Amino acid sequence: MSILDKLEKINKEGQKEIFDASSLEELESARVSFLGKKGKLTAVLKSLGDLSPNERPAVGKKANEVRQFIESVISKRRKELESEALGRKLEEEVVDITLPGKRSPVGKRHLITQIINEITDIFIGLGYRVAKGPEVETEYYNFDALNTPADHPARSLMDTLYTQKDGVLLRTHTSPVQVRVMEKTLPPVYIIAPGRAYRRDVPDPTHSPMFHQVEGLAVDKNITFGDLKGTLEVFAKQMFGADRKVRLRPHFFPFTEPSAEVDVSCIMCDGKGCRVCSGVGWLEILGAGMVDPNVLSGVGYDPEEVSGFAFGMGVERIAMLKYRVNDIRLFYENDLRFLEQF
Ligand code: PHE
Repeated sequence: MSILDKLEKINKEGQKEIFDASSLEELESARVSFLGKKGKLTAVLKSLGDLSPNERPAVGKKANEVRQFIESVISKRRKELESEALGRKLEEEVVDITLPGKRSPVGKRHLITQIINEITDIFIGLGYRVAKGPEVETEYYNFDALNTPADHPARSLMDTLYTQKDGVLLRTHTSPVQVRVMEKTLPPVYIIAPGRAYRRDVPDPTHSPMFHQVEGLAVDKNITFGDLKGTLEVFAKQMFGADRKVRLRPHFFPFTEPSAEVDVSCIMCDGKGCRVCSGVGWLEILGAGMVDPNVLSGVGYDPEEVSGFAFGMGVERIAMLKYRVNDIRLFYENDLRFLEQF
């Protein structure tokens, strides 16, 4: 085979190998096998010196043409392969912007807080404001100022959690806030006081040594028992539904006279009698009464001038009735399977 034919053969082989290269690596090895130090074309170029002077120009020219051609084919093929590789990379790394993002879990208010907020909203709507008092109280505010004598059973060590310090205890109800507010404010007074209360109770489905109450107090000129009943009726309807009725039963509290326990018609059976209301048709939701004249005069109010009513409701009890929770302890166990339902 003449050397020119050989060059032409290299040219053809080169082109084929280059076009057949399916990756940049294969293209590089094709380049090396033709143009590298030990490549086929390089070998021919190296042997030019062995040729006779009259052969050399033609062969040299052809060899150069072949080299240029192969180089140009390589660079064309390289561009193709590079753009194919880029296309594949873009396809592989494509980001699906329609996928929903990762949400961080958002917490929610505890059911007890929700109920307190609901109660608060209702009374704010009736013109009340929110008052607060300490959970660690003195016997004076918790009992004495509330007309509760020293021998009253609620004061016993069996019922009340006392601190080491004499006369200091965990408040057994939110009623001391009544006294604290009246001491600092002249009538008219319209407040509610949500907060914790503590009693020496062993936890069971309906008792907890810590629980929540919302206290209410209205003192003004000419406040009557009818105002108390009307207020509680508005509350019961907003809290439990427009069809609710309210019933007051005579009761006794040292700091109200007269006193009443207040029931709403059963939210399940509407008064017919069912398991929720143990067949009686009514659910007890709070204690209430007309503020005892002794309490009014104790804070410097004139019982001849003003009168008032007060009430205190158990928040857990309302939550349990409204959502049919059957164990008060569920509120304090921080079990999300329970809490997330509300
Ligand atoms: N403090 C009473 C209790 O805890 C409830 C109450 C409040 C009763 C205000 C009358 C007036 O049982």
